[in-house]
Amino acid sequence: MTAEHTLVAEGLTLAYDGRTVVEDLGLAVPPGRVTAVVGPNACGKSTLLRGLARLLAPTAGRVLLDGEDVHRVPTRRVATVLGLLPQTPTAPEGITVADLVARGRYPHQGWVRRWSAADDEAVGAAMAATGVVDLAARPLAELSGGQRQRVWIAMALAQQTDVLLLDEPTTFLDIAHQVEVLELLADLNRSRGTTVVMVLHDLNLAVRYADHLVAMRDGRVVAAGAPRDVVDAALVQDVFDLRSVVVPDPVTGDPLVVPVGRSHHAPGAEPGAGI
Ligand SMILES: Nc1ncnc2c1ncn2[C@@H]1O[C@H](COP(=O)(O)OP(=O)(O)OP(=O)(O)O)[C@@H](O)[C@H]1O
Ligand SMILES: [Mg+2]
Repeated sequence: MTAEHTLVAEGLTLAYDGRTVVEDLGLAVPPGRVTAVVGPNACGKSTLLRGLARLLAPTAGRVLLDGEDVHRVPTRRVATVLGLLPQTPTAPEGITVADLVARGRYPHQGWVRRWSAADDEAVGAAMAATGVVDLAARPLAELSGGQRQRVWIAMALAQQTDVLLLDEPTTFLDIAHQVEVLELLADLNRSRGTTVVMVLHDLNLAVRYADHLVAMRDGRVVAAGAPRDVVDAALVQDVFDLRSVVVPDPVTGDPLVVPVGRSHHAPGAEPGAGI
């Protein structure tokens, strides 16, 4: 079981060239749980993750990792505790799958500590879990979007950090692979106690796989809590400006969001009403 770390944002304000994108945001990531961040395009989800991973310095407020300002924690310590899979990661040209996944182990290397059997094991396990073993020798650039995404997830897993931030880990994946990746993260959370924070666009998958849901709009948190307490048609309207009908998920009983859209009307509603 991994150690549980606390990750908290207090009054966090993040900006690019003086343009504020995330403002006065408060967030306490539940340790040892799975958190999903949802919200419309450009609302600041990726920016928030960059702020949490200290890739972006706040213009106000702070991020606390185990009670310490992340900007004061030594880089190597942050890197071994906290891993980030960015939305559009970039890889060195020509790199093979096996070499990219192995890069996940770099934070564990040092002047003294060389590549070890534990590193081999971590890389092998991450590749097996994501189903990319057969791709090991292939150049990343020659893979399909979904294969590539699974390789990136393997790299993130190989880091074996106690806290894992993933920005849209299911993009490019077909529905079966989306479920597979989310179940993999759920397993990792259950078996190792890894704290997972992921940005997801599929609200229904977020509800199903997250213990804690954070809904953002315009750089702020609109609602946070257990998905079944937070997700209803009013929230979907507030956050996405979208009319929806929320019904019980036939598999889990959790809220299932069914968009209505402009060209339909919700069952039970008068035709043309409420548009
Ligand atoms: N590197 C950057 N430099 C300048 N502005 C940026 C940069 N990255 C993001 N922004 C701006 O910040 C705002 C929030 O972007 P962000 O990437 O955090 O949104 P997001 O919620 O992750 O959206 P999406 O769902 O499309 O990924 C956008 O208006 C975007 O144009
Ligand atoms: Mg984003």
